[in-house]
Amino acid sequence: MHNTTDKSPHIPVLRQAVLESFSRTLPGHIIDCTLGYAGHSSALLAQFDHLSIVGIDRDQEALSFSEQRLAPYTGRYTLYRGSFAQTLPKIKETPIVGILADFGVSSLQLDKKERGFSFESDTLDMRMDQEAPLTAYDVVNSYTQEKLSYIFKHYGEISQAEKLAEAIIQARTKTPIASGKTLSDIARKVLYSGGKIHPATLMFQAIRIEVNDELGQIEGLLDALETRKPSGAIVSLITFHSLEDRLVKNRFKTWAQHCICDPNALRCTCGKNHSLGKVLTKKPIIADKEELAQNPRSRSAKLRSFHFKKSC
Ligand SMILES: C[S@@+](CC[C@H](N)C(=O)[O-])C[C@H]1O[C@@H](n2cnc3c(N)ncnc32)[C@H](O)[C@@H]1O
Repeated sequence: MHNTTDKSPHIPVLRQAVLESFSRTLPGHIIDCTLGYAGHSSALLAQFDHLSIVGIDRDQEALSFSEQRLAPYTGRYTLYRGSFAQTLPKIKETPIVGILADFGVSSLQLDKKERGFSFESDTLDMRMDQEAPLTAYDVVNSYTQEKLSYIFKHYGEISQAEKLAEAIIQARTKTPIASGKTLSDIARKVLYSGGKIHPATLMFQAIRIEVNDELGQIEGLLDALETRKPSGAIVSLITFHSLEDRLVKNRFKTWAQHCICDPNALRCTCGKNHSLGKVLTKKPIIADKEELAQNPRSRSAKLRSFHFKKSC
């Protein structure tokens, strides 16, 4: 059991940039879609007296930890267990002045071997929500070769996706693949590892994305925001790989567009008043040298912010 006092098992990435992104918000609620260990949320509550937090996480372990960590701010936070795409539309607290998400897994989820996220795990689990029906074991031992190959190609961008899927099918005909160790050994044997990231890392990423429907969740969150259009709110989203970043970047771009006519149309007929607001980060904010040295997880973090315009 982790110590649940003030010591966090997870260092929040781009902490200062997140605080700055919400520094000009009016009094109201920030929805922290990925509460985790409340690193960002506790920093926001400490820094800004006029803000409250609505925290969401699908991991009960993270919520229990955060509940204790946030105890000094009782009355200024509400916590929800669930996935952010499904929970956000149900949130009644108003006004919403900010939305934060720090996608992906936490350090504790990665480090705890029994959660089955890492190369050294004795299990294959990878569920952020420990009550969710699909585990990494199910994916690895029951998906067809085509389906495995698809997720390796699309969620891991692994060039030897087919070869890897074939090796997994072969290995599991003898005995089920039951641990992270066995799975990473298979990948290491069949994949060429000349690049910056070992393909076994990409394979784990791909399986994790599938198990937790991570890209579907991000799209769901963006859809929910598009429907809700929270008046005057700042949306700050931190991504960790190009698949996530692409979804955020493209959606922010679409939201900012004034004209929604077909790009091939000869002239504009839409009235040019369709913009939902403004992209605040022309380029994503990334970690500086100091943060990179202190927290290796910040290496691939990118923060993008969008400002929804005020509705009348
Ligand atoms: C990177 S951690 C967040 C860390 C947090 N910002 C902090 O400073 O402590 C991501 C957290 O989001 C949660 N999470 C990821 N995807 C989620 C989703 N779709 N719905 C709800 N929670 C999610 C994970 O369970 C994890 O606890």
